[in-house]
Amino acid sequence: MDIKSLFRKKSVEHLLADAEHGHHSSLVKSFTVTDLTLFGIAAIIGGGVFSTIGRAAYDGGPAIALLYLGFAVACVFSAYCYARFASTVPVSGSAYTYAYTSLGEIIAWILGWNLILEYAISNVVVAISWSDYFTTLLEGFGIHFPDFLTTGYYTVKEAHEELLNKGTATSPQIAELWNTAPNLWGIPIIVDLPAFLITIGLTYLVYVGIRESKNVNNVLVILKILAVLLVVLVGLFFIKPENWIPFAPNGIGGVMAGVAAVSFAYIGFDSISTTAEECKNPQRDIPKAMMYALLTCTVLYIATVFIMTGMVSYQELRVGDPLAYIFQKVNMNFVAGVVSVGAVIATTSAMLAYQIGQPRIWMVMSRDGLLPKAFSKIHPKFKTPSFSTIVTGALVGIPSLVMDQAYVTDLTAVGTLFAFGLVCAGVLVLDLQGIESKFKVPYINGKYWVGVLWIVILGVIFIYTDTLANWQKAFSNGEGIGDVALKILFILCWAWLSVESFRKNFSLIPVLGLLTNFYLMTELGTENWIRFIVWCLVGFGIYFGYSYSKSKLHGK
Ligand code: ALA
Repeated sequence: MDIKSLFRKKSVEHLLADAEHGHHSSLVKSFTVTDLTLFGIAAIIGGGVFSTIGRAAYDGGPAIALLYLGFAVACVFSAYCYARFASTVPVSGSAYTYAYTSLGEIIAWILGWNLILEYAISNVVVAISWSDYFTTLLEGFGIHFPDFLTTGYYTVKEAHEELLNKGTATSPQIAELWNTAPNLWGIPIIVDLPAFLITIGLTYLVYVGIRESKNVNNVLVILKILAVLLVVLVGLFFIKPENWIPFAPNGIGGVMAGVAAVSFAYIGFDSISTTAEECKNPQRDIPKAMMYALLTCTVLYIATVFIMTGMVSYQELRVGDPLAYIFQKVNMNFVAGVVSVGAVIATTSAMLAYQIGQPRIWMVMSRDGLLPKAFSKIHPKFKTPSFSTIVTGALVGIPSLVMDQAYVTDLTAVGTLFAFGLVCAGVLVLDLQGIESKFKVPYINGKYWVGVLWIVILGVIFIYTDTLANWQKAFSNGEGIGDVALKILFILCWAWLSVESFRKNFSLIPVLGLLTNFYLMTELGTENWIRFIVWCLVGFGIYFGYSYSKSKLHGK
């Protein structure tokens, strides 16, 4: 094995030929720009705005609206890069395919491996949100599921450990389940059954056909946009501006604690590119749809943050169903009920988008030989990647029975930001290779800008904040040293990119995309990086054990 072969690339011509011939064309080309935008919104708006937004608001106060805005800008940088690739290589597989043409096989593999975090594992979070709102809704009708059948094992375990260690738990009722749930050979039986069942139901829908799924999806998306609009419009009448003060009660640290939750909320715009083979005109429609979807969602998110933090104090928002909670607080139980129905619909449609996206990425990886052939098998009657669809169902359904939502959210965020960053890096490589695309990322020469921004931003941070003093403290007592190391690594990478931009006239937008995504990754902390590195090591193990030698490019 020589190092060069690890970075072998698939040419754009090769990919296009692959997509046009053979069994790939058996997928139905039915998506228009409206369908794609709705598909994007379906993937973006889900558990993020109905659930994890509460955690972010609790940590950061009303100021998290700025984090949503900042993220939107970072996503636009990445979306430009995704759009550039989608117009160059209109093939399912998204970031994985893009990396294969630009960065080489091993990077493509590890990216595809991380897309599992973004698509399948993120769906575990959404399934858990779905279950939370669904059980709340049933309560409204007087139907009560036993708690041990609607809560994840690890959520209860953590609450129980918190109780043992601190003598008190944030959710005593959940902690108590550890002792009251039935048990088998001493192991408490605690599972989130609704989360599992919705996953199985949606897997079936995706299995029987993309066309059916798309139509269901479009209706669901419109309903969920209406649900968020309802929150905003009715909420307007209950705002108490004094709740917006202080604007950032826990400072920048509090706002940045919301990075995982906010990045989770934006995940999904890229899933539009996974449908490239099922679109009528991918080069024209995919870039447009990404921008439309991002814009719509950003406006809705920021409006929701202001309504939510204006209606009640941010300190009350650490609940699983914040958008229903704010209306219960003002005795608008009917609105709370309607919002809960909206949340169930929203999370259903978000899940659907990922259950569609993940199998299509595996399908392409399998065509390339990096995964076994079964993953690219198309069902003769339903014309869907059948085996991959079933595996996705299992990969989402089984963890959703037991996992804790916060843990999975963090894991999802780190993998997603990594994928976004690599796609931006890939665009820089396309530029260096002189590959033309129908969609062009607006070119601003980064020659001086990348370095100038490095100096200005670092200057402002070190002069006007206590960063340096905090770092010195970390070095002297060792506390938080890993987080400081991540920041230093980021600064060094930026310095290196400044030099490279000066030498190669890099386009500014992809460089900013790369930097913003990497920066946000550093905000997720060392614990998440360790999990991320372990995940990548497992991925590399599979690559060297199987994929490298089975690759269609092997020996060529
Ligand atoms: N953005 C998706 C959601 O919020 C993952 O559910």
